Amino acid sequence: MSSQILLLPGDGIGPEVVREARRVLEAADAQFSLELSFSEGRLGGIAVDEEGAAYPDATRALARDADAILLGAVGGPQWDALPAADRPERGLLAIRADLDLFCNHRPALLFPDLAEASSLRAELVAGLDVLIVRELTGGIYFGEPRGIATDADGVREGYNTDRYSETEIRRIGRLAFEAAQKRSGRLCSVDKANVLEVTMLWRETMEALSADYPDVALSHMYVDNAAMQLVREPKQFDVLVTGNLFGDILSDIAAMLTGSIGMLPSASLNADAKGLYEPVHGSAPDIAGTDSANPLATILSAAMLLRYSLNAPEAAAAVEGAVASVLAQGLRTADLIVDGSHAAPIGTRAMGDAVVAALQCH
Ligand code: IPM
Ligand code: MG
Repeated sequence: MSSQILLLPGDGIGPEVVREARRVLEAADAQFSLELSFSEGRLGGIAVDEEGAAYPDATRALARDADAILLGAVGGPQWDALPAADRPERGLLAIRADLDLFCNHRPALLFPDLAEASSLRAELVAGLDVLIVRELTGGIYFGEPRGIATDADGVREGYNTDRYSETEIRRIGRLAFEAAQKRSGRLCSVDKANVLEVTMLWRETMEALSADYPDVALSHMYVDNAAMQLVREPKQFDVLVTGNLFGDILSDIAAMLTGSIGMLPSASLNADAKGLYEPVHGSAPDIAGTDSANPLATILSAAMLLRYSLNAPEAAAAVEGAVASVLAQGLRTADLIVDGSHAAPIGTRAMGDAVVAALQCH
């Protein structure tokens, strides 16, 4: 049975990194007979410019039909002056909400050859393998009321609402417990239950759920401490589960530990395991079009797509193995080069070529 993959390259470096990931998927298809077919749509700033909306109807129709979606990145300075509701980022939030992609997996895995590129000492990150499970369709990103209001004196006030129902907490919690069962059996739930009622309920609900998972050791941590512990002793963590905003912040920290934010993939899944796969990095407008972006986070996102949505674990492992092999060969995009080293960076396309070649000799 063939699988329909929707590509949403988006803005900035998005088109460059998605192009390389597509080539890798095509090479995997040739090798593993996956019968992939590709379609392409617009999301984000490009969609605002060309179709007048960040998540246009045409893209919505393609997204609903696709078996899986691979996204580049959205946003850029040329759209910063737009009203909040029309910005490219809202397109990303809209597709996450439309497809109910509430479960975001952000694995932070250190490839052994990149230990030197981490912002922490090599011994603190050697063997690092942390999974952040981020709730993606609730919390302060979506809570109402929200807005900017002007009072009688003409003073403006901005406000957002952080809210989670027990139902929302339970469904992300269950998937996080299940993920922990498949790994080391340790789950750390991150909240700010010393201050915020919404996360007091989060903690209570996670605690209640843990009765159903006696084989998982649940712990709780306040988000400020979790941020500190991630840069102090990251290997203490296995699976972290948290809400939308905290997950956004903690996953950028975790990314840096693995050498570069250019390495971190993600999968956003709904209850039917339909998924949208995207690198954790943004659109990096400053380097867009210069053939210097690191395509590996998108290529690793494509590997997650193969594993979670297409049930092709061998192909996924082959892609991940190909990435490990190019890193072992010493190939580096500019973001992976440590100050003071004499290595010469290679470009986006050359990195894609190297992964395709490594996959072919797999
Ligand atoms: C991410 C990004 C997005 C988010 C932005 C681009 C809306 O930072 O996926 O981490 O905040 O979720
Ligand atoms: Mg982010």
